Amino acid sequence: MDRQDGAPRGRSSHDREVPAAVAASFQEGWENTDLKLPRSSGTEGAASRRAALSERFPGERIVVPSGGLKTRSNDFDYPFRPHSAFLHLTADRATQAVPDSVLVLEPTGHGHTAVLFTRGRSPRDGGPNGAEFYSDRRHGEFWTGRRRTLAETADALGLEVAPRDRLEQALAGGVPTRVLRGEDARVDALVPEKPSAEAELATFLSESRLVKDEWEIAQLRAAVGFTVAGFHDVAADLPRATELARGERWIEGTFNRRARLEGYGLGFDTIAAAGAHACVLHWMRNDGPVRPGDLLLLDAGVEADSCYTGDVTRTLPVGGRFTDVQRRVYDLVFAAQSAGIAALRPGAPFGDFHEAAMRVIAEGLDAWGLRPTSDPATTPAPDRYRRYTLCGSGHMLGLDCHDCASARTEAYLGGALEPGHVLTVEPGLYFQPDDLTVPEELRGIGIRIEDDFVITTDGAECLSSALPRQPDAVEAWTSSLR
Ligand code: GLY
Ligand code: MN
Repeated sequence: MDRQDGAPRGRSSHDREVPAAVAASFQEGWENTDLKLPRSSGTEGAASRRAALSERFPGERIVVPSGGLKTRSNDFDYPFRPHSAFLHLTADRATQAVPDSVLVLEPTGHGHTAVLFTRGRSPRDGGPNGAEFYSDRRHGEFWTGRRRTLAETADALGLEVAPRDRLEQALAGGVPTRVLRGEDARVDALVPEKPSAEAELATFLSESRLVKDEWEIAQLRAAVGFTVAGFHDVAADLPRATELARGERWIEGTFNRRARLEGYGLGFDTIAAAGAHACVLHWMRNDGPVRPGDLLLLDAGVEADSCYTGDVTRTLPVGGRFTDVQRRVYDLVFAAQSAGIAALRPGAPFGDFHEAAMRVIAEGLDAWGLRPTSDPATTPAPDRYRRYTLCGSGHMLGLDCHDCASARTEAYLGGALEPGHVLTVEPGLYFQPDDLTVPEELRGIGIRIEDDFVITTDGAECLSSALPRQPDAVEAWTSSLR
């Protein structure tokens, strides 16, 4: 069975037969319950995003699946997380969203009608699917929890709703159709592929997420607030982490507990990198010790129930004090980040904050007597020390940590900042432990400082300012908790 097609999960080897008399007894004696769900906040914004999509593709049918369950192993799936484009157009919550849902914008004489094809409750009427609720470990409500009725979904999202099994019929006919392909195998099979038209749709959906509305900014503010709380949890837990062979895992667990408590979970797997592990940009193995003289680089983000996420990094002295050389590197990254932050304003080219940060790094490393790692005559200034800075200094943030990934260069990397853009500023210096081009005392030091910003009409607001960033403040914070 294709485990990504939303089909019911068959019986597992350890599942017992349900005798006919028992099956019959399951069909009666249930009360009708009402979830009494409030209208999901943010649905007005989702409606105006659907209106913009309708305007962009007049006369065409637009199909945006939520995606489905993905097998982790054997008969267990990964937790379901709806596709970001689907969330952007429905404002559904991950805690309520139903795998294999599909949003269809059906063209009418003037614009489109939006219909959400989805699963309602597991039926208990003894019909063809009447055993699902207790026997289907993938979709049965006794296995995975109460779902909304179709009417409850319609009320919660302010959308017309239809049963998912009517989708095939709805996608038939000669209407020109664009699909967000690759998210739902059964939808993909129903609609002939049109690569360039579909790429155009994916680009539009991605670019329409660049500017956040007020509700989205409130979601991001909340997600960053939860993230900040997780960093405080970790700072308080540093002494315990130093007692354990896999202290990085303890740190990861501490942050992740906050993420599950406050949000749906993580925006990305937590990076808990102590010592030289901090030189690995996405160190997610997290199986190392956390030693008192080390730095701990924690790069983590809580994803709210709406799936908007924070993305923050702090590099903390585990013992509460930087060594002289750690402090020197921290000061330089701090100065670079500060220069990057100062370059954030509406109208500024997106590349400006990175260039400002890299200029400070280059001047600092020049002053330390390090040699540019690429020929200055032929390498653009921001890349001269790329061997130690490795990557760009920030990215758009939203429903995805690396948001708007299908936007065209001219709309994103080569575009200009606008009010409502939300982005990270996160320069770093990474001196690999085996890098013979740097003095020995620098080897194995990795430092990144990352904050989240919303561009305003006259500058930028830091969403993560509640977390100490300045080096003395970081020392005071971590040492006060010991
Ligand atoms: N926080 C992970 C990243 O930005 O790549
Ligand atoms: Mn980031």
